[in-house]
Amino acid sequence: MGDLLVMANVMISNAVQNQDDKTLTVEWEDGDTQLYPYVWLRDNCQCRTVCWHKSGLSTQPGKSVFNLDLDLNPTSLEVIDSMESSSSSNLIDIRWSDGHQSQYESNWLRKYKFDSSPRSDGILDPNLRYWGSEVGDKQLKKYQFNDLVSSDEALLNWMTDLKELGIALIVNAPKNENELRKIGDRVNFLQPSHYGLIWKVHTRYSPDGSHHYNVAYNAGFLPLHTDLTYVQRPPGLMMLHCIESASEGGESLLSDGFKAAEELKRENPEAFKLLTTTIFENFDKGHSTDYHGRYHTVSRHSVIQLDNHGQISQVVMADHGRTPMLRVPVSTVSAIYEALKLFQGKLHDPVNRFKYKLQGGDIICINNYRVLHGRADFKVTETTNRHLEGAYMDWDQVNLRMRVLQAEMDQKNTNSHT
Ligand code: OGA
Ligand code: ZN
Ligand code: ZN
Repeated sequence: MGDLLVMANVMISNAVQNQDDKTLTVEWEDGDTQLYPYVWLRDNCQCRTVCWHKSGLSTQPGKSVFNLDLDLNPTSLEVIDSMESSSSSNLIDIRWSDGHQSQYESNWLRKYKFDSSPRSDGILDPNLRYWGSEVGDKQLKKYQFNDLVSSDEALLNWMTDLKELGIALIVNAPKNENELRKIGDRVNFLQPSHYGLIWKVHTRYSPDGSHHYNVAYNAGFLPLHTDLTYVQRPPGLMMLHCIESASEGGESLLSDGFKAAEELKRENPEAFKLLTTTIFENFDKGHSTDYHGRYHTVSRHSVIQLDNHGQISQVVMADHGRTPMLRVPVSTVSAIYEALKLFQGKLHDPVNRFKYKLQGGDIICINNYRVLHGRADFKVTETTNRHLEGAYMDWDQVNLRMRVLQAEMDQKNTNSHT
């Protein structure tokens, strides 16, 4: 994780005040230079006496921009050696016109370079690895359930796969209910939905073919979809634990939505744009005997969502929850269907779609913002039954666990090298 790497010390060679535009030019011994506005320096003073809340590990709550004097100037400025005995580094010591004193370490300044700061946070800027049907044989690592429960290193590797590939498989989980809770506890928490904390995909043999509840709770084909399209904030990750496999059929279908969306963007930018701008409404309505009874949700989402940098950040698509509502000029409707069909064609393309039959004890985990899942139809007989449990997690919970574990691993590696 780029940000956590220990940076080599480079000494500050000079610091020059630019009174006209109220900036400081910092020069380093390797020739690097950077402008720092006074207002930014003052706002980000790291002094432990006034500006920093020691136990809260944060800026003092009282130190808000509301109270910040935008016209402060340095009255004196000095480049001095760092007091930290372990590092041969230096810093800039500034006394401000209001009498406050601040110090800025060389490495600290080098980290904050405004629009030329690299986006190198391994968690927020992951190294995405796209995959197609070949993922089954080559890239999909199998994680032992017991390792995940007992080893932080296994847990971190598994979460890193979820971040970079969007898919990871756990094997040899006990074939009992509620095992997903143990995975949730290892990360932090499972994320509840109106189907509860852990939901069952359990199909009972019914000779007359009648089934109840959600469309997944029967033995039919489920086309590729993301889960919970019908809430405003769909869960970030989905896990499916196979307790009993279907005797025939029921293979999971999986497809990398980011890869398909990138292909669509390259080959048909107009169709891609329609899917990023058209808002669909989705709904879920029913009755749960397990929890709070009746539910009815309605949400609005585009099928492909972009982040602030224009990168694909989320796919939200399930035909079975889509309502007829399209608040668009009627003349664009057929182009929207063409775009949807092109995207689904990409997702279902045999080179992109990967088929995997979950066995008892398997847990497939996916990034629900990226990977679409479905399943082939299957047989339910009097003596065999397909029994799965599902649960969700929130990316913020996974991210924070990754960040903490990564820092611990980096620390261990540093210690073992010194
Ligand atoms: C679901 C689902 C997959 C399966 O319940 O949303 O996708 O394999 N189930 O039954
Ligand atoms: Zn301060
Ligand atoms: Zn699903």
